[in-house]
Amino acid sequence: MDAFHYQNGRLYCEESSVADLAREFGTPLYVYSQGAILETLGALKSAFAEVDPLICYSVKANSNLGVLKLMATHGSGFDVVSGGELYRVGQAGGAADQTVFAGVGKTDLEIRQGLETGVLMFNVESEAELAAIARVAADMGRIAPIALRVNPDVDPKTHRYISTGKKESKFGMDIDRAMSAARAIVKTPSLRMIGIHMHIGSQITSPEPYEGAVRKGVDLIAQLREMGHPIGWYNMGGGYGISYKGKEGRPVEDFARVIVPGVKRSGCRLAIEPGRVIVGNAGILVGRVIYTKQSGDKRFLIQDAAMNDLIRPALYDSYHRIWPVESSDGPPVDADQGGLSPTGLEPWDVVGPVCESGDFLAKDRPLPSLAAGDLLATFSAGAYGMVMASNYNTRPRAAEVLVAGSRPRLVRRRETLDDLLRQEIDLEADD
Ligand code: LLP
Repeated sequence: MDAFHYQNGRLYCEESSVADLAREFGTPLYVYSQGAILETLGALKSAFAEVDPLICYSVKANSNLGVLKLMATHGSGFDVVSGGELYRVGQAGGAADQTVFAGVGKTDLEIRQGLETGVLMFNVESEAELAAIARVAADMGRIAPIALRVNPDVDPKTHRYISTGKKESKFGMDIDRAMSAARAIVKTPSLRMIGIHMHIGSQITSPEPYEGAVRKGVDLIAQLREMGHPIGWYNMGGGYGISYKGKEGRPVEDFARVIVPGVKRSGCRLAIEPGRVIVGNAGILVGRVIYTKQSGDKRFLIQDAAMNDLIRPALYDSYHRIWPVESSDGPPVDADQGGLSPTGLEPWDVVGPVCESGDFLAKDRPLPSLAAGDLLATFSAGAYGMVMASNYNTRPRAAEVLVAGSRPRLVRRRETLDDLLRQEIDLEADD
């Protein structure tokens, strides 16, 4: 499904005109396609069908309640990394017993919350955390289901900020440590180790690192079972990359092909924690040009969608395709290789109003000529977009719309200035 497509020079999300959405809901605006989200969820289910996967959608990628509810009603489980995300899942009607709880710094309060809601398992990242879970569970008279997060020391060949499976990363335990922790767990009555967990990184565009990781896990599972642990789950994390530029993403079947055989050999049920691949290309960020400006040889498009709305370009130097919402020049030009010949395009820096030189969504990007009032779409913004937005410069965060066919639903209203100030203390009134 081509959720975002041009028809007679106008961008549509499914059957809804993006310009109409911008008029109705204002800008900056996140627009998500329900069909695209569900299509990828379905593709994952069938790619991994042989091992009856539990898909635990990674809430951190896009935690809007509307998106979570959609996932829950279509049978998805969840991967959460905080008490806040776990609370969201509950509010969206997600099943706790299909929810895994990860994160390197779970507090006692969060552990208690996880046990009270009845999460499927905690993904445990250190000996200190094991001790905390054991203590809290014992206090509550409970047995905590856990999976050790094992760091397989493979190079996922992705941006260093989102690589997690190498031994110098803060995540997980190396295999030797995991083995000695497992020996201690055998003697801890408030812990029950039912699985192992691995997540090697994000935006991974080659199946190969998974192949090496799976192999290490299969051997480990055999040893843990010999020790007496009832290992029934093999959680392979998320990380499947998407296409931001051209065709660098791989179909999920390619990842399944290298993961499924190992999981079958292990005799475990597979859990996966995909985030980006489900929502990334199912969302765009729409902004409106406020001014155009020239400085020396440089041309700037100053729009109302800024780094506080989408921080990925500033933080990771990441590329997002950008194109006018209404354009007689046809669909966007691919970075790798265009569908449209770039004649007549000029290089623009697409920037926002925030007072930082890092406030850009694109640099020297070939675009058709644009003027104040024109709308711009930033593509592949559905994952790690709104969830990483901030109120920097006292900018209210964007609204979010979930589109199903010709029906848009506002799933987050635009913040007001009062929303922003509400948490702050008026010192005068406090006296
Ligand atoms: N499971 C665990 C334990 C994770 O740490 C993550 C992502 C996922 C699953 C989901 O990974 P995905 O399928 O979405 O790749 N803000 C960065 C991405 C950070 C990813 C953190 N962990 C970005 O904008 O690229």
